Amino acid sequence: MAGRNDAGAGAVPPRHIAIIMDGNGRWATKRNLPRTAGHKVGAETFRKIAYYCKDIGIRYLTVYAFSTENWKRSVEEVNVIMRLLERYLYELMELMARDHFRIRFFGDLTGLPPSLEKLARRTYEVSGALPQDYCLVNLCINYGGRDEILRAARRYAADCAKGTQTPENLDDALFSSYLDSAGIPDPELIIRPSGELRLSNFLLWQCAYSEFYFTDTLWPDFTTDEIDRAIAAYAQRNRRFGGVKESK
Ligand code: IPE
Ligand code: IPE
Ligand code: MG
Repeated sequence: MAGRNDAGAGAVPPRHIAIIMDGNGRWATKRNLPRTAGHKVGAETFRKIAYYCKDIGIRYLTVYAFSTENWKRSVEEVNVIMRLLERYLYELMELMARDHFRIRFFGDLTGLPPSLEKLARRTYEVSGALPQDYCLVNLCINYGGRDEILRAARRYAADCAKGTQTPENLDDALFSSYLDSAGIPDPELIIRPSGELRLSNFLLWQCAYSEFYFTDTLWPDFTTDEIDRAIAAYAQRNRRFGGVKESK
């Protein structure tokens, strides 16, 4: 699998960074604002960080925007998040070609409000016509790592039933090709702001050998300096992938 046998991180910057954009609600509550105010500022943070990652040469940026579990929240909060996603997708659609981004989605789009689903599919189509070397932003919406694996397993089982695959064929690379992240190398670095030390169902398959960077900063306060710090921390890690390597 891509990246699995690379030498240690050293000075090589990550190709793929993934971020759990967490802490919007607490940011707002601390300011006596409704939680939705945090989502609005958090969406702006996403814009700033995406441009920064592109500018420093990150090829793939994956962001967790809405999980399969986030539907448990109030209808009001969910509606605000869905409207924000729609607004930012419109904007991205307009700017992708000019600013050299491509967009892809991880998650089950069929569970989204129809207008957002349509827009997401259209954005994906437009992205398909853009040059492959543009920075690829993967938006995780209605995404859960377990759900992604289950959807992949179902499709594989269906192909076996049709006779186009056999159970014996299945290996790491083939299974990866059924995931939402098909064709994209695993993230070398996963960042979680907001002080929580868990994955919350993010990229469960792809994180096998990712390096983790946790910070207490809440997502709306997150800055480009934090990205630099995360990359600097990553550069110090000794990645062994199960092998043996002299420590630095
Ligand atoms: C992340 O911020 C955004 C989503 C999960 C949609 P939260 O809304 O989880 O913020 P906290 O964790 O409650 O502070
Ligand atoms: C993870 O954050 C999901 C996103 C950031 C989109 P949550 O706030 O939903 O995770 P928990 O509930 O703290 O585990
Ligand atoms: Mg949270």
